[in-house]
Amino acid sequence: MKLILSFLFLLLLHASPQEPSKPADDKPAADSKSSSEAAKLVNPVKPTPNSLAIGKKAYTSDCAMCHGKDGAGAGELAVTMNLKLRDYRDPASLKDLTDGEIYSIIADGKGQMTGEAGRMKPGQMWDVVNYIRSLSKK
Ligand code: HEC
Repeated sequence: MKLILSFLFLLLLHASPQEPSKPADDKPAADSKSSSEAAKLVNPVKPTPNSLAIGKKAYTSDCAMCHGKDGAGAGELAVTMNLKLRDYRDPASLKDLTDGEIYSIIADGKGQMTGEAGRMKPGQMWDVVNYIRSLSKK
């Protein structure tokens, strides 16, 4: 019983928002959202052909230079920057991330990756989530 209570307490601690809500024009800041908060975001956009087409367009212009046209992670900029990236053609590479977590990484960036928040609209970022998920299904 005691164990369960302390577990619940820990859960509560994690669930409580640690930061004030950010203004709409937030600057890309690495890992600014706690991952528990991000993981809970639900993808409001169905992976329709239209969503995938918009996602592909945005991916090709903003992501492919690092993650590669096909998602293999060998884009020109990644080679120049000497980045070691995952291969999104492999279903294992994104399986531990929820759509919400992927969305937050696209929005806020991570490590040497700059976030797109402010440049891309939320709907477009969800389209990109749908698109990179689709790369492993080909
Ligand atoms: C400058 C090169 C660069 C660009 C451009 C870039 N990324 Fe990244 N991306 C990275 C790096 C480096 C990481 C690994 C960050 C880390 O774990 O420290 C990463 C991580 C990720 C992750 C987390 C999963 C993983 O592979 O580790 C996702 C998802 C992702 N990027 C998607 C995108 C999308 C979508 C775009 C375009 C909107 C994009 N990236 C643009 C370099 C880039």
